[in-house]
Amino acid sequence: MSTIKKAIIPAAGFGTRLLPATKSQPKEMIPIVDKPVIQYVIEEAVESGITDILMIIGKGKRAIEEHFDRNFELEYNLQQKGKIEELKVIQEISQLGNIHFVWQKELNGLGDAIRYGRFHVGNEPFAVMLGDTILESEDGTPITRQLMDHYEKYQSSVVALEEVPQELVSRYGVMGGRQISDNGLYKVDQWIEKPHPSDAPSNLVIAGRYIFNPEIFNLLEIIPTGVNNEIQLTDAMRLLLKDQDMYGYHFKGQRFDVGNKLDFIKTNLLFGLKRPEYQSDLQAWIRELAESL
Ligand code: UTP
Repeated sequence: MSTIKKAIIPAAGFGTRLLPATKSQPKEMIPIVDKPVIQYVIEEAVESGITDILMIIGKGKRAIEEHFDRNFELEYNLQQKGKIEELKVIQEISQLGNIHFVWQKELNGLGDAIRYGRFHVGNEPFAVMLGDTILESEDGTPITRQLMDHYEKYQSSVVALEEVPQELVSRYGVMGGRQISDNGLYKVDQWIEKPHPSDAPSNLVIAGRYIFNPEIFNLLEIIPTGVNNEIQLTDAMRLLLKDQDMYGYHFKGQRFDVGNKLDFIKTNLLFGLKRPEYQSDLQAWIRELAESL
């Protein structure tokens, strides 16, 4: 049994890197093959044993709410037409756990978005899962589940990490720490936001999944506005580290940041290749394309 039952999924951001697609459509609703990104995230939460999800949404994000609500008209229509497979697929979406929505009034950054979850979460440890990021694990155990298992052992906040080329660390929050086990667990001693590659303590960066002790909320209240005039989650994490142990988990698997165009295109191709019904056609087409380039 896990003590972690709740997850906050921030999904209110403007998504400027995907404009114009995100002008009137939430980036979290952008499809990867045939499912919006956010559905992959919710499925990961549910498979991890999370039973209570709070999604932070903003202006223009109503489509997210509707996606997870029932659509009786569509269900009736599919039933009438005998489209039973499709009916099953859409009914399953509305049964994905207990999802609540809160509106972030002003988009003051990721740290601010998480603050909106305080009353919902209360005094419990909780997960944070970015709504525009898909994580795939090598062994099939959801990464959030793996983080939860580490939490159970250490009772300390733990953050998913991915390795990136050293020259790219300046785009991310970077961990400094020492490895404490063969399974990719690190004891963290610093978090540095977007360092110059020569100043970075490692090339292990924050990968969009976190488990926090509830004390992080107090720190999110007191930190000043940071980079880009936003409340930065990394600033609160740095403060938490002064009071509590924190761990980083370099998971085995892959991260897909669907919020940038190149990753979005690559993710669609890769996930398309994984679908048995498209695999051989897509492979043949990619080979043909590669030869003609
Ligand atoms: P990003 O850093 O990707 O920001 O947010 P963004 O605004 O969504 O996208 P760009 O950079 O303009 O293209 C990381 C996560 O935090 C959420 C986003 O929805 C995303 O899941 N977020 C960000 C909020 O919920 N509120 C905010 O104020 C900012």
